[in-house]
Amino acid sequence: MSGTVLVGTQWGDEGKGKVTDLLANDYDYVVRFQGGNNAGHTVIYGDTKLALHLIPSGIMYDSVTPMIGNGCVIDPKVLCGEMRELEEKGISTDKLLISCNAHLIMPYHRVLDGASEARLGANKIGTTKRGIGPCYQDKFARYGIRVQDLLDAKILRQKIEAALAVKNDILREVYDMPTYTVDEIWHEYLEYAENIRDHVVDGSQLLNAEMRAGKTVLFEGAQATQLDIDHGTYPFVTSSNCTAGGAMTGAGVGPTRIDKVLGVAKAYMTRVGSGPFPTELFDSYGETLGEAGHEFGVTTGRRRRCGWYDAVIIRYAADINGLTDIALTKLDVLGAVDTIKICTAYEADGVVYENVPSQQTAFHHAKPIYEEMPSWQCDISNCRKFEELPQEARDYIERLEELAGVPISIVTVGPDREQTIMRGWK
Ligand code: GDP
Ligand code: IMO
Ligand code: MG
Repeated sequence: MSGTVLVGTQWGDEGKGKVTDLLANDYDYVVRFQGGNNAGHTVIYGDTKLALHLIPSGIMYDSVTPMIGNGCVIDPKVLCGEMRELEEKGISTDKLLISCNAHLIMPYHRVLDGASEARLGANKIGTTKRGIGPCYQDKFARYGIRVQDLLDAKILRQKIEAALAVKNDILREVYDMPTYTVDEIWHEYLEYAENIRDHVVDGSQLLNAEMRAGKTVLFEGAQATQLDIDHGTYPFVTSSNCTAGGAMTGAGVGPTRIDKVLGVAKAYMTRVGSGPFPTELFDSYGETLGEAGHEFGVTTGRRRRCGWYDAVIIRYAADINGLTDIALTKLDVLGAVDTIKICTAYEADGVVYENVPSQQTAFHHAKPIYEEMPSWQCDISNCRKFEELPQEARDYIERLEELAGVPISIVTVGPDREQTIMRGWK
């Protein structure tokens, strides 16, 4: 095994952090390839609980080198804070690598994210307001500022000047908001530069050399397939490619380096922010899942919308990402309900859809067509083998596997690293 891409299959928060942490020790590198501190990945082992936003979920293993790839957007203020927090917990960040080509989130990106959402009013995306969208906008407009610019004070100043020439106009004229001076941002970012300098590398060249030499890499996705800028529920998406292809551009390696694509799928579904969610529950089942699954955002603390497992979405994720395996997470939570529904198709405006409708309006109107299965209604969090699970849980896994057409080779039954059933993952 040389390269594995791990992605979210739904709307995020599937448990990617837990699964990455679980597998990380088998790899030499764990690399984030897109997104920024909009992500919130929880890692729990023993008494230690980490909520990671930017730093890859592999940081706590001595043998693993974590890297933030070129496809990520980095808020250096947040990064320095996260590094400090880890150090305070006794986790060294010395070996963290940061790609010189990753883009920097600037103070005006955060402000513009909030201002743009306020302007959209009822049509808002429900972003995390971390400046993600505005930073990627600048990247594609080709006046973004990159990590490597931090290393040259003169260049950094020129880039800030060029960006502010546009940004200050927008802040003043469009949003009637305060503007920034070059000096204030320059001095602030020069301080971050001192903390980050020693970690900066050419991520792509380093990874390719290492993979050529036989080193293994786990590419840790953030967000998820339905939040992907191209393949998600546009415009209610994030501003990056969270699907497997994003790992190629976001880390600078070719597809021939990848031999496994692991999709993380929650045994029910959640979504934070606006946008369609056909299986969303507005009844006591939704409340029960939210409570039993502690469904509150790691980044913003927002209550997550809850719904039944949607097999249409997972089949779509299997295609878009080329999934070779699925990690099914939070199965234990379904023990809290008496009956479980699985969405196998949709009906919208008199038409049955076996696949995700291409038309946004049809997806907004999609009504789930369900099949129902009994729940096991007991605590399965101590099960460590498939055979130890109650029959109803085994039936549920096997049915989901059949519907996905992809093996479910990992099942998780609790947040701790140990609360996992390995079922053929190699
Ligand atoms: P990520 O963004 O995909 O990494 O997921 P989050 O960390 O945002 O959300 C997943 C939440 O579920 C976290 O609080 C995890 O600790 C928790 N979790 C992960 N796997 C399991 C599981 O199998 N059972 C339960 N009950 N909780 C889990
Ligand atoms: P992890 O990696 C869940 C959602 C936001 C919003 C939309 C756009 O923890 O799974 P953005 O700030 O990215 O411009 O917001 O995307 N979103 C997430 N939802 N988990 C995440 O990350 C998310 N990152 C962004 O709620 O709907
Ligand atoms: Mg999360």
